[in-house]
Amino acid sequence: MGNAFMLRHLREDIHSVFGRDPAARSFWEVLTCYPGIHALLLHRLAHRLWRWRLFWPGRFVAAIARWLTGIEIHPGAVIGRRFFIDHGMGVVIGETAIVGDDVTLYHGVTLGGTSWEGGKRHPTLGDRVTVGAGAKLLGPIAVGAGARIGSNAVVTRDVPENATAVGIPARILDERPPIKKEAREHAESIGFSAYAVGNGDDPWTLALHSLLDHAAKTDQRLALLREQLAAAGIKTPEAETPNTGFDPEYLSKIVD
Ligand SMILES: CC(C)(COP(=O)(O)OP(=O)(O)OC[C@H]1O[C@@H](n2cnc3c(N)ncnc32)[C@H](O)[C@@H]1OP(=O)(O)O)[C@@H](O)C(=O)NCCC(=O)NCCS
Repeated sequence: MGNAFMLRHLREDIHSVFGRDPAARSFWEVLTCYPGIHALLLHRLAHRLWRWRLFWPGRFVAAIARWLTGIEIHPGAVIGRRFFIDHGMGVVIGETAIVGDDVTLYHGVTLGGTSWEGGKRHPTLGDRVTVGAGAKLLGPIAVGAGARIGSNAVVTRDVPENATAVGIPARILDERPPIKKEAREHAESIGFSAYAVGNGDDPWTLALHSLLDHAAKTDQRLALLREQLAAAGIKTPEAETPNTGFDPEYLSKIVD
C-alpha cells in the first residue's frame, strides 16, 4: 500500500463519517477530533508492519493507538474501507477479525474470541454491518452484509444478511416466538393482560409464555374429560376458571 493510496483511503474514511454522524461538521473537525479516525489511521500503519512480519513494531503502534484513543485493534485484524468507529472508547478488535467495507461500530464493542486455541477465532463482519454500543460478538462467527447488532447484544452465532440481532443471547428480531393464540386467549380469559407479557427474549417472559401455554392445554384436557364423563352419564359440577384479579388497564400503563 503506497502513501498516496493510504492518503486516498484516509480521505474516503473521513468523508464516510459525514453520512454516519450528523454531529460531524467539517473535514478538519473529523480529522482532529474523531478517535475512530485516529485509531484507523494508526491501524493501517500497524497492519502494514504486521504484514511485513514486523510484529513487535506493529503491536507497539497498536499500543500507542490504544493509549491515545481507548480503541484496541490488533495489527493482524483485516479492516475494510470506510470503517467508522464512533466515540470509540473500549472497542476491542481481535487478531483474526475480518471487517468488510462501510462497517460502523460504536463504543464498547468487542470482536473477541472464546477460545485460547490459535487459528481463526474472531468474528467476520460483512459489508455495511452496524454494531451498537457495548455489543459483544464472540467467536469465529459470520455476520452477514447489512446486518445490525443492537447495543449491548451478546452474539455467539452467525447472523444472516440484513438481519437485526438484539439481546443476550442475541436473537434475530423477526424470529421471535410469537405468543401462541391459545395462550393469549387463555391469559385474557383469566383476566391477565396478554399485552403485559408481550414478546421478548428475557427468561421470565419466555417462562411465562410456556406456563400460559401449559395452562391453556390443561384447560382443554379438563374440558375433554368433562365431556367424556358427561357422555358416560357422570355429572361434574360447573366450575368457573378463577380470575387472577389482574387489571389489564393497569398493566398496560406500567408496561408501555
Ligand atoms: C438494534 C437496533 C438497530 C434496532 O433498531 P430498530 O430496527 O429501529 O428497532 P426498534 O427500535 O423498532 O425495536 C424493535 C424491537 O427490538 C427491541 N430492541 C431494539 N434495540 C434493542 C436492544 N439494543 N436490545 C434489546 N432489544 C432491543 C425493541 O424493544 C423492540 O422490541 P418490541 O418489538 O418487543 O417492542 C437499535 O435499537 C440499536 O440498538 N441500535 C444501536 C444504536 C447505538 O448503539 N447507538 C449508540 C449511539 S452513541
